Amino acid sequence: MQQLDIVKIRKDFPALDQKVFDRPLVYLDNAATSQKPKQVIDAISNYYSTINSNVHRGVHHLSQQATEAFEHTREHIQKYINAQNSHEIIITKGATDSINLMAYSFGKKYLQLDDEVIISALEHHANIVPWQMICKELGAKLHVIPMNDEGELLLEKFEKMINQKTKIVAVGHVSNALGIINPVEEIIEIAHKHNIPVMIDGAQGIVHKKVDIQDLDCDFYCFSSHKFYGPMGVGILYGKEKYLEKMPPYQTGGEMIKKVTFKKTTFNDLPYKFETGTPNVADVIGFDAALNYIEGIGIENIEEYETELLQYATEKLKGIDGVKIYGEVPHKAGVISFNLKDIHPYDAGTIIDRFGIAVRTGNHCAQPIMDRLDIPGTIRASFAFYNTKDEVDRLAEALEKVKEMFG
Ligand code: ALA
Repeated sequence: MQQLDIVKIRKDFPALDQKVFDRPLVYLDNAATSQKPKQVIDAISNYYSTINSNVHRGVHHLSQQATEAFEHTREHIQKYINAQNSHEIIITKGATDSINLMAYSFGKKYLQLDDEVIISALEHHANIVPWQMICKELGAKLHVIPMNDEGELLLEKFEKMINQKTKIVAVGHVSNALGIINPVEEIIEIAHKHNIPVMIDGAQGIVHKKVDIQDLDCDFYCFSSHKFYGPMGVGILYGKEKYLEKMPPYQTGGEMIKKVTFKKTTFNDLPYKFETGTPNVADVIGFDAALNYIEGIGIENIEEYETELLQYATEKLKGIDGVKIYGEVPHKAGVISFNLKDIHPYDAGTIIDRFGIAVRTGNHCAQPIMDRLDIPGTIRASFAFYNTKDEVDRLAEALEKVKEMFG
């Protein structure tokens, strides 16, 4: 592994360099959104200062430059995840938007009355509700791969759930609430044995690990830019051409059409069939800068550094009397979810904030996990490669203070 120069790296992230309640900010809410390097902020500002114009529509110079930069990002994403074709990369508004596209478009093509969709007990609401809605609309059924008390998915139960009616499996790569890395390789293998396509919600996965789509061989993979050091408002849906070709448009309007008359509309080719209206050009180009930045550091180096930091943080927090960690399994990435004695996570989070430390508290958009664990929520510290062991120590000190305050 190449040693990361964290001091130098932190200088690239302007938002990290500030005080909150008179203390240097400790930002441990990276699973909600990561901070952005100045290279990304500059790319957005540069776009608006120079080539701002609409894409795919103009013959003029600025429009051509903007289109080129926009399409360059698509190709960059394709190369980054090693997808076969750039037209398999659909640019959306976010991971949630990508999953909505999937549920409605895939659903309308492939789901019928009594068909079945399988998700897992560890899903974010974004990978539950869209499937729930489309199943309700079409009279299909939603089934859930159960988990054990530690949060591990029960694969032997999963295989037994599959039958002739199963049309898609949609599971998270890494749980945003607990940080557990799901055995997606095995899930894909099992599903493919039965010729069932698999969608991976990678919003929390691709930020911590190398993703090679052809190795993984999933049929769809989605993620967002904003958790991956890029701007908000941009998401990606990768899909295998053989499915995307057959899926109907999700939203309609300009850009996604080939020919429109008042009687009939024919649709554009991939990927534009799924991209209607003016896209978020500036932020897509900002995401290109984020990919450059990550490539400059190396995702393997990031993974190794974050794994070490997570181990350090886990040991440190376990050393605090009254801390209970949820989802403590061998395969984890970037997240520690815990409670402190019987202190409500919101109360703890409010006090931790006064120490200049940002953590998320609550159900983390994953209420079914909290119901399964029979808790109202957790305190979640989530890490990025710019976090340090000193910051973990600051969190540990704050937790001791919270305990003191609650007697
Ligand atoms: N899904 C985001 C989180 O985990 C917002 O906090």
